[in-house]
Amino acid sequence: MKLAVIGCGYVGLVTGACLAEAGHDVVCTDIDADRIAQLQSGNVPIYEHHLDKVLESVRRSGQISYTADAGDAIRASEAIFICVGTPPKDNGDADLSAIDNVARQIATEARSSKLVIEKSTVPARTGLELRRALSAYSRNSGLTFRVVSNPEFLREGTAVEDFLHPDRIVVGVEDDSSAAQMREIYRPILERKFRCPVHEDACPAGPEAPLLVTTINSAELIKHASNSFLALKISYANALADICERIGADVHEVTHAMGLDPRIGGQFLQAGLGFGGFCFPKDLQAFVHLAGTVGVDFEILKAAERVNKQRIDRFLEKVHQALWVVKGKRVAILGLAFKANTDDVRFSPALEVARRMLAEGADVHATDPEAISRAEAILPQVAYHRDPYDALRDAEALLICTEWDEFRQLDWERVAKLMARRLVIDGRNLCSPARMRELDFEYFSFGRELVRSSRMEAAR
Ligand code: UDX
Repeated sequence: MKLAVIGCGYVGLVTGACLAEAGHDVVCTDIDADRIAQLQSGNVPIYEHHLDKVLESVRRSGQISYTADAGDAIRASEAIFICVGTPPKDNGDADLSAIDNVARQIATEARSSKLVIEKSTVPARTGLELRRALSAYSRNSGLTFRVVSNPEFLREGTAVEDFLHPDRIVVGVEDDSSAAQMREIYRPILERKFRCPVHEDACPAGPEAPLLVTTINSAELIKHASNSFLALKISYANALADICERIGADVHEVTHAMGLDPRIGGQFLQAGLGFGGFCFPKDLQAFVHLAGTVGVDFEILKAAERVNKQRIDRFLEKVHQALWVVKGKRVAILGLAFKANTDDVRFSPALEVARRMLAEGADVHATDPEAISRAEAILPQVAYHRDPYDALRDAEALLICTEWDEFRQLDWERVAKLMARRLVIDGRNLCSPARMRELDFEYFSFGRELVRSSRMEAAR
């Protein structure tokens, strides 16, 4: 099928690449002409695992093309995926102006009827507004625009895998023919008829993912409800970690046992600096706002937000407890991205930690496997190092802010020798307290025992 993707952020590019890999003819467009020029010359402007491989393969096979002219993309396609940004406004509501602009473009540029698929994360009822906007902006009454809500469940860093091996595909529709067309679009994915970039030999066997057909309002709600529930789980684990610290229990032991209950599940119970990124904080805010507009006070989500905001304060309390005076001290930050395996620093707890350390007059050195250039553009006052050992050399404290495997696998004996003081404040519970004790580090983490170095023990 001929498909257009409007918006070449990570969701748009992953959607375009994977649907092209699944055999569709895909044309991608974006208002950022530089981004389109980069993509045309084979450069991938974002770091997303496997994405470069898939984009290269579909570029060679001619399944994908790029244009800065949205009109061309719209006219060339039967179905159009809207993947533009919906950033939060000051009141927590989602800013839907980009969707509105795209609706105007589709309505005025189309020369034939289209299936318009809303993939951007939007509050419930947006699809219905989108349908109204499409007919209001259209000058040709002979054209019809059928609207579908098809929320994405793509985690940054594993988005290609999530797209090609979904747990479920949700399509919110108003008529059977839209549902049939969506099934046709996703058929190669459901039947696994693509070259999988994730699994070199064969994809793990498993049942076909369900394609759930719902109303448009339900589909939109499913996205917000899922992300908010996951955020709630994280805040639950974080509040639990605070209790564990006070009563001397270990949060890993507790959440591990909890997670073995299939009704709870072990994922998203990792305590630490809390959730960041462009999705969870804004989706949670938008959901609370939406609930408020229909007269529901979503108190537990507000509490989840509150717990999350307090994580940075809790982390800094540990820094102060360990360092006493921060001003003038050299501090190393390991990790800048909002989570591992991405270069995205939007709403990253790590950047907030760096900001607060700078504000207190620390000499801040930082490293990250992928996110340095993005962080540098926001916080130029930090000294950045590609090599983590250079970042932590002579530091009086090492703050772990992102759960990269690279940090777990550091040569910690070497770290101990390079630092001015053996002090680690682990915001992601990445290291083992036993190993830290062995190496005579003073080690703080969330919801686990505090490890004192022999020198600290002697000073007590
Ligand atoms: C999320 C959703 O998971 C995805 O389905 C959606 O479509 C987009 O938003 P993403 O923002 O990429 O994906 O990040 P995710 O992997 O969900 O993690 C979100 C944040 O929670 C990160 O900051 C992460 O570090 C934090 N987190 C995650 C925890 O603090 N503890 C956990 O146990 C899990």
